[in-house]
Amino acid sequence: MRMKYGVSYYPEHKEQAEIAHDIALMKEAGINLVRMGEFAWCKFEPVEGQYDFAWLDPVVEELGANGIQTIICTPTACPPAWLVEKHPEILYVDNRGITRPFGGRRHYCYNNPVYRGYSRKIAEAIGAHYGGSPYVFAFQIDNELAQEGTGRCRCPVCRKKFQQWLEGKYGTIVELNRRMGTVFWGQAYDRFSQINLPVNTIEPNTQQAIPAFFENPSLRLDFERFCSDSNIEYQNIQRDALKKYTDKIVTTNATGLATNSIDYYKAFQGLDCYAFDYYPSLRDLEISSFPYAHARGVCGKDFWLLEFQSGGGHGLWGSGRLQPYPGALRQAAVHAFAAGADLVAHFQFRTFPFGAEQLNYAVVDIDGIPRRRFYEVQAAARDLKKLGSVLKHSRFDNEVAVCFDYQSLWALKIKPIAKDFNYVKFCTEIYQQLARLGVGADVIPFGRDLDKYKVVIVPAPIIMSDDFKRRLKQYVYNGGVLLSTFLAGIKNPDNIGIAESLPCGLTGLFGIRVGEVEPVVERTKATIALKTGAGETRGVNKYWAETLEPNGAEMIGVYADTFREGTGVISRNSYGNGVAYYLGTGVEPQLLGELAKLALKDGRVALLPFKVQAGMKVFVRKYDHQNLYCLFNFSQEPAAIKLDHDYYDVLNGDSVTDEIVLEPKGYRFLLD
Ligand code: GLA
Ligand code: ZN
Repeated sequence: MRMKYGVSYYPEHKEQAEIAHDIALMKEAGINLVRMGEFAWCKFEPVEGQYDFAWLDPVVEELGANGIQTIICTPTACPPAWLVEKHPEILYVDNRGITRPFGGRRHYCYNNPVYRGYSRKIAEAIGAHYGGSPYVFAFQIDNELAQEGTGRCRCPVCRKKFQQWLEGKYGTIVELNRRMGTVFWGQAYDRFSQINLPVNTIEPNTQQAIPAFFENPSLRLDFERFCSDSNIEYQNIQRDALKKYTDKIVTTNATGLATNSIDYYKAFQGLDCYAFDYYPSLRDLEISSFPYAHARGVCGKDFWLLEFQSGGGHGLWGSGRLQPYPGALRQAAVHAFAAGADLVAHFQFRTFPFGAEQLNYAVVDIDGIPRRRFYEVQAAARDLKKLGSVLKHSRFDNEVAVCFDYQSLWALKIKPIAKDFNYVKFCTEIYQQLARLGVGADVIPFGRDLDKYKVVIVPAPIIMSDDFKRRLKQYVYNGGVLLSTFLAGIKNPDNIGIAESLPCGLTGLFGIRVGEVEPVVERTKATIALKTGAGETRGVNKYWAETLEPNGAEMIGVYADTFREGTGVISRNSYGNGVAYYLGTGVEPQLLGELAKLALKDGRVALLPFKVQAGMKVFVRKYDHQNLYCLFNFSQEPAAIKLDHDYYDVLNGDSVTDEIVLEPKGYRFLLD
C-alpha cells in the first residue's frame, strides 16, 4: 500500500515545455501526488461567469497518466481583480481600519455575503468539473484561512454580525453586561448596537493599533470565538458546494500550531480529515513532533501535511531560510509519516521566478536540474514504498495525554501572565520532556475521553468549564494520574475570575490551596527542590510562581531559597484510586522530567525496552499486537542502540540483534 507523497505545483506559471520537464522529474522522484490551483482564480474564471479549465485539465491528465494524483484547491485566497473592482466592499479591514487592497493575497472578508456567494460559485464550478475525475484524489478549500493577519476582519458587515452573534449568545444586553462585568471602567451597554469590535486581538502579524488601550477581556475572548466561528462558517460554505458534486475527500490546510486564530477542533469536525502546513528548520538538530501529536488529536486519527518544508534560500518573511543538513529532508518526510501523516506534500516543486515568493525554497532549483534535495525526496519516496503497509496498518496507542485548549490559549494571549510565557511553547516543552523519556503522548482537547489514558497532563488550564473539572475528578477518582500546572481553573468560560480559593473547584482534588502568585523575572528566580524516590532534584524556576498551602496533599516540592524558602510549590495528592499532582511554577527541563517520571511511575506507563541516546526520537505504534518502533537519529553523528532482543527491521527486510547503529539523520523501523 502506498502513502501519498508529493508536492505543490503551479502550472499556471508555466509553458508546456517546462511542465513536461517537471512531470518527467516528478515521475523520476517517485512521488504520486500533486496539489494545485489554490491561487489561480484569475485563470479558473478570467471573466465573471466564464470558467476555464483548459489550462489545468491536460496537466491533471498527464500527471494521472504518470501515476500521480491531484489535489485540486479552491482559489479563494486570491479574489481576482475583476471581482474586487466590481465589489470593493468584500475587502478585508484590519485593526487600524485599513482596507487590505488588491495586490497581495487573502484580501477578503470571510463574513461578506457577496464574497461568500462568489466563493460558493467558484467552489461549485470546480466541484462540478473535477468532482468525478479519476485523477483527482481530494479537494482543498482556500489556503491557510486566517493566515497573515486575515482572521479578524473589522468591516461594517463583521461589526453587525458580531453584535448579532452576541445577542444570540446572551439574549439580553443586561445579561451580557452582567456576565462580562462591563461595569468595570464604566462600560455598561444599553444596546447591542453600541458594541464595537475590539481593537486588539491575539492574531499574529498585527500591530497594536492604539497604544496602551486595554479592553474588556470577556468581550475580547468572544471576538476571538466569533471570528473563529465565522472562518469555519466560510469554510463550510465551500465544503457544501464541493460536496454537492463529489464524494472525494474535502479538507483545508490549517496552520498547525503557528497561527492559532481558528479553533481547529471545531473547524475540522465538518471536514474529512485534519490537514496542516509545517515549516520546521531542517538545519536544526531536532524537528518538534508536538505539532504532529496535536494534528493526530484534532480528528483523533491520521492527518495530512499539505505543505511541508522543502529547502532553503530566499524567503517570504524578510529573511531567507537555511538549506537542510544532508539527509534531513529525507528524514523529515519519513518522520512525518511515522508521526501519523498519511499524506505529505512539499512546498513546492520548483523555484518561482516571479511574484512575492520569487526565488524561494523548492525541491528543484530554478534551472530545473535535480540536486541533493530532489534525490532526498526520491530516497524518501523509495523508503515509503517499503513502509507504506506497515504504517497504514499500525496506529498510536499512547498511554499519556497532554490536554491542549484554544480557550486557555486565547485567554493567555489576551491577558498574558509573563513576558516569556507562551502557551503553545509551554505545552511543547512538556510534550518534549515526555518524548525524551521515550514516552509518546497524544494531544487532546478538554472534551475528549480521558479514561483510556494512564496519565493526563493539563498545562496552564486557565479557563476550565465545570464539566471538565468534574470529569478530571472522576478520572482521578477512578484511578487515573493527573498532573496539572499553575493557573488551573482560575477563570470560567466567560473569561471571568472565580471568587473562590484556587484552583477553583479543585482544591479537594489536588489537596492544596494556592496562596500568592506572581510572574518570575530574572531577579526573582528561585531554586526548586523536588523529592524523588531516591533523593532530591533541584532546578531553577521560570514563567510564573505560585505558593501552595497544604490542604491534605503531600508537598513534594518546595522553594529552596529566597524569602519563600520551605514553602510548598509541587504537591501530590491521593484522591479516590488515583493521584493528582500540581506543579505551581515553571521549571527547567531536567526537573520537569523528574516530576514526569514520578507521575509515569504512579500511572505504570510502559517505558521503552531499550535505551536511546540524546538526539534520538522514537514513536511506538501498535501493529496488531506487536510494537512498531520508529527510530530517528536527528543528530549529525552516528547513534548506537543496544537492543534487548531480536527485532525485524522493516526497511532492510531482515532481523536485527544486539547493537544497531543509525547513521546521522538516519531512521529505522523495528517490529518486535
Ligand atoms: C504558507 C502558504 C504558502 C507559502 C508558504 C511560504 O504556508 O500557504 O502559499 O506562501 O507559506 O512559502
Ligand atoms: Zn469583515
